[in-house]
Amino acid sequence: MNDSDKFPTAILGASGYIGQHFARLLARHPTFAPPILVGGERSQGQRLEELWQLTEEPPRELARERLRRLSPAQLQRAGVRIVFGAFPSGLAGPVETECRRRGIHVFTNAADHRMDPDVPLLVPEVNAAHLRALTAGSHRRALLVTNPNCTATGLVLALAPVWSLLSPKVVHVTTYQALSGAGLPGIASLSITDNVIPYIPHEEEKVAAESNRILGIVRNGRIVPDRVPFLANCARVAVRDGHLEAVTVEARRHPSVADLRQAWTDFDPLRDLKLPTAPHPPVELRSQPDRPQPSRDRWAGQPERARGMAAVVGRIRWNPPYLRFFVLSHNAVRGGAGESVLNAELADALGLLPRGRTNAS
Ligand SMILES: NC(=O)c1ccc[n+]([C@@H]2O[C@H](COP(=O)([O-])OP(=O)(O)OC[C@H]3O[C@@H](n4cnc5c(N)ncnc54)[C@H](OP(=O)(O)O)[C@@H]3O)[C@@H](O)[C@H]2O)c1
Repeated sequence: MNDSDKFPTAILGASGYIGQHFARLLARHPTFAPPILVGGERSQGQRLEELWQLTEEPPRELARERLRRLSPAQLQRAGVRIVFGAFPSGLAGPVETECRRRGIHVFTNAADHRMDPDVPLLVPEVNAAHLRALTAGSHRRALLVTNPNCTATGLVLALAPVWSLLSPKVVHVTTYQALSGAGLPGIASLSITDNVIPYIPHEEEKVAAESNRILGIVRNGRIVPDRVPFLANCARVAVRDGHLEAVTVEARRHPSVADLRQAWTDFDPLRDLKLPTAPHPPVELRSQPDRPQPSRDRWAGQPERARGMAAVVGRIRWNPPYLRFFVLSHNAVRGGAGESVLNAELADALGLLPRGRTNAS
């Protein structure tokens, strides 16, 4: 497909950590055109390569593009059809609402709309049915789709394949979260060197509420969240990328360990959709006793475009009623930009992004 036949896109917050991952993923995307780069006051007028903070090189197609401050009205006039959101929460919400009102589809990382009853909070392998249910009958209206907090994303991916087998009574999770989860410029080196910070504002509440919403069922066109207590303890550690989580599930049902492993291994619900950024399989099991590790497993995911999109599960121990394991996922890819791109690919595959213009409301 030529770039002129692809969806015109923009990144809101392109100078930030998630924004730079969006630029990396969208520079050569098969259906989304290279994005317009929208930044804030600090970054406007600068070239992407001058702001670049990722360990990989900036994409050649976008490296010399300058960031611009553009309003939703200006994005609409520029013909943008899809915005990928990486503004800080608080700022993001009203901008995203306005983009949608102007007929621009929004796929966002920000928290503002995650719990809106009519907005999908999506992890495609886990709750694609929520996207279908909440968009039924509104196909001429622009979509607003959110992805979860980066800790909840890896957690629900690991839990979904075994959720009904276990019928959990309670889930305990202790996290070891990467520095990049706090965005740029990052945490002051003197605060985190030789240290662990056992507090991340609002993280524990988000893990509980968002996981239950994603694992919830659809009833009469609405999402009914699950009600399992998630007891989270979240800490920041001196790791660049990749959130590691130690999970203990207290289960009502007691399947065999072979059945649990089989459920994880067989899990690949997007197999037939051929979405470019979907990893196959989405959950990788490690048998080594010291895995998963952030530095070795954060880029898990096949094919090449899905690097960083798989959750890695290891150290599985099953002593009924307690299942224990670790899960690792790349917070800025699976838990951030890659997740939004995958959400948009799923929406496109389901026919929710019609080629014609979307109505402004
Ligand atoms: N980091 C993660 O792992 C992660 C994972 C999941 C979700 N998220 C969410 O994704 C969003 C982006 O996170 P991030 O880590 O990429 O943050 P970040 O590195 O701090 O980037 C924030 C971006 O927003 C722009 N911005 C900030 N204030 C602005 C303002 N007043 N007006 C216009 N633009 C403004 C910044 O532009 P300037 O450079 O010009 O200031 C920058 O492009 C947040 O909502 C975050 O909660 C992050």
